[in-house]
Amino acid sequence: MAKKRSDSARIVWLPGDGVGPEVVREARRVAERAAAAKGVAIESREFPCGGLYWQQTGKEWPDGAFETCRDWSDAVLLGAVGWPGAFLPNGDLAGGGVLFGLRFGLDLYANVRPAKLYPGIPHRIAGSFRTVWPPESIDMVLIRENTEGCYAPVHGQLSRGGTVEVAVDSRIITRKGAERVIRHAFLTARARNGAPADGKRRVTCIDKANVLAGCRLFRAVFDEVAAENPDIEHEYFYIDAFMQALVRQPEHFDVGVTTNMMGDIATDLAAVLQGGMGVAPSGEIGERHAMFEGVHGSAPDIAGKGIANPLAAILSAAMMFDWLGARKGVRAWREAGAAIERAVVSMVASGEGLSPDLGGKASTAEVGNAVLRRLEPAMRRASSSSARLPRRRRA
Ligand code: IPM
Ligand code: MN
Repeated sequence: MAKKRSDSARIVWLPGDGVGPEVVREARRVAERAAAAKGVAIESREFPCGGLYWQQTGKEWPDGAFETCRDWSDAVLLGAVGWPGAFLPNGDLAGGGVLFGLRFGLDLYANVRPAKLYPGIPHRIAGSFRTVWPPESIDMVLIRENTEGCYAPVHGQLSRGGTVEVAVDSRIITRKGAERVIRHAFLTARARNGAPADGKRRVTCIDKANVLAGCRLFRAVFDEVAAENPDIEHEYFYIDAFMQALVRQPEHFDVGVTTNMMGDIATDLAAVLQGGMGVAPSGEIGERHAMFEGVHGSAPDIAGKGIANPLAAILSAAMMFDWLGARKGVRAWREAGAAIERAVVSMVASGEGLSPDLGGKASTAEVGNAVLRRLEPAMRRASSSSARLPRRRRA
């Protein structure tokens, strides 16, 4: 295998099911253009995968695809998996083997889900499109543990005489699993500018420690890591109270960290604050590998219509570049990532490129084109000192 140049990254693209291929196509176009403009190169491999692929072939993804992600790639960008009626004989979601194969197989323990509301993006609440939260009040990162909790494969059904009588799901919380994701949260807070409300760096532990033993361990480990970071505020919310606070005072939150399934649920609500699933990106980060995907699913109801919002996938590509840049120590990747975000920010601020989920009429490809048109000016601005959104600081 040829020696890797520092200015080249190997990406595996996994379009997957439903709207996945449509949004990944746009993300890839934008990513390739941004990389080229910054003088860095992408080497690509792409594999079909998911529930529909399983129905057609009897496999969730081609032989060797996982190994390519593990041994060849620097990063993976996934569209979505899941297709109506596509379930494995044991009842599991077909395509889940791809998602969980990568999360567990590559040990991607920190599922990083930023919720940032860009000016110009409405959220759809109670039937209408409006801006309920002022844009400058939503800028947080929720970090979900991604390799244990309720998603650890410790579950099953007791079937007697063909009748399922008992079903058990167990939750696994380990010291190692808690510690590494909590450390990731404090590192994330250190690199940010604090909460919108007061500019203070703050990590919120979200749990149910009043009831669950695993959450008591999670919180004990949180306290240990917090003690090592005395300059960063720390606090606790029970998950139920957190869901209320997320709606009522989102400006208070900077970085939140939680267990796997609580994070799954909380990040769907956080996505509403930022305009919905169509704009919510994520990065699943391990020690050596990372995968990026929109928080959304495969949305079979709108698949193939060319109306899915590709912004979540495009912003996930921006996160991928940021991670590549940090990992490789090559600034061009981070600049390309920042430029993609700036292009999106400037596009939505202009009111252009809003897809139907945001109350607009732009097709998936039109959103991609609109981002591409704004990429070049965003490149010039991204090389100036601040690649971030202007924020109100009340520190
Ligand atoms: C997510 C999704 C997945 C999860 C599903 C598709 C299994 O909801 O990434 O949030 O539950 O983790
Ligand atoms: Mn989810």
